Amino acid sequence: MKFGTKAIHAGVSPDSATGAIMTPIYQTSTYVQDEIGNHKGYAYSRSQNPTRHALEKNLAALENGKHGACFGSGMAAIDCVLKMLNPGDEVISTNDLYGGTYRIFKTIFEKYGIKFHFVGMQNADNIEGYINENTKLIWVETPTNPMMNIIDIAATAKISKKHGIMLAVDNTFATPYLQNPLDLGADIIMHSVTKYLGGHSDVVMGALICNDDTIANEMYRIQNSSGAVTAPMDSFLVLRSIKTLHLRMQRHCENGKVIANFLAAHPKVDKVYWPGFVSHPNHEIAKRQMSDFGGMISFTLVGDKMEDAHAILNKSKLFALAESLGGVESLIGHPATMTHAAIPKVDREAAGVVDSLIRLSVGVEDAEDLVSDLEDALS
Ligand SMILES: Cc1ncc(COP(=O)(O)O)c(C=O)c1O
Repeated sequence: MKFGTKAIHAGVSPDSATGAIMTPIYQTSTYVQDEIGNHKGYAYSRSQNPTRHALEKNLAALENGKHGACFGSGMAAIDCVLKMLNPGDEVISTNDLYGGTYRIFKTIFEKYGIKFHFVGMQNADNIEGYINENTKLIWVETPTNPMMNIIDIAATAKISKKHGIMLAVDNTFATPYLQNPLDLGADIIMHSVTKYLGGHSDVVMGALICNDDTIANEMYRIQNSSGAVTAPMDSFLVLRSIKTLHLRMQRHCENGKVIANFLAAHPKVDKVYWPGFVSHPNHEIAKRQMSDFGGMISFTLVGDKMEDAHAILNKSKLFALAESLGGVESLIGHPATMTHAAIPKVDREAAGVVDSLIRLSVGVEDAEDLVSDLEDALS
């Protein structure tokens, strides 16, 4: 099946009891057994639930993977991957990544004896210098949040395979519509489903997808043991959202292109970070591993003043000032004081998250209205 067909049909089938075309919300914690140990595949909803199961199968299919698991948030999905490691293990991670990922690495897992190296990965050759016999995981985010750096997944997978290291890719920004990391050699894909997959700013959820049965066993063991699962109602909402993922993503990409070009031509704007520009340092890699360039854009202001950035954030109207991204409505955010406040100033500035950096999640409204909103905010 092609992507749009999978988005609508993969993992779901008419309800066996009633024929309902939409997967029912199985709002139940437990399931009656015919006799001890004889049940219909579902024993307790932390372990598995039919609505969640349909979503997990759908997400696995979208990423060309065998196994999917859904969690109560993107962070809970990341937590699951890190719990596959042991004290003494080392992780090599993208240096410019979502602040919450940095926080869980540094403030939760470091104290359990896991060591993290934050590395600029725009050139995959940089990674090899950090590998030693303790390295067990390479964590990649691409495009990165918020600098829109592009990391070559296939080149990184070549390195991870050579050294027998697990490669996990946070595919939140690209979504499976634009990029399929398992096809490029990654072992695990992580999603903040909260973003484009949920798509309507009404659900918090995470997911992992993989092909390898051993990794899958670990993933399901931790999902069930730690219990950070997602609810049947939320699973239903995301199944519903995914049916239009391809349509939404197409419009996010079209609008993203219009806004990126508008910003690049604006006299008050200094730099614009968007992988669709030929001038983007890894544009060629983006073209190779993504089918389009998405609706996430970051930009800085001439003079780099925090107060100028704040004024724009306070003035824009259609671009609503809010955390998060990937919904149908456009959002505007200030990474230095919002999503990346957990990262020390020197570290965030070294990664490019300067005081005037503004991040846009371009929604699916009419592009002309979005441009005039930004024109007003910048004036
Ligand atoms: C790239 C990325 N990864 C992970 C997360 C964490 O996901 P959640 O907020 O669903 O826990 C986010 C949240 O903003 C994100 O942007």
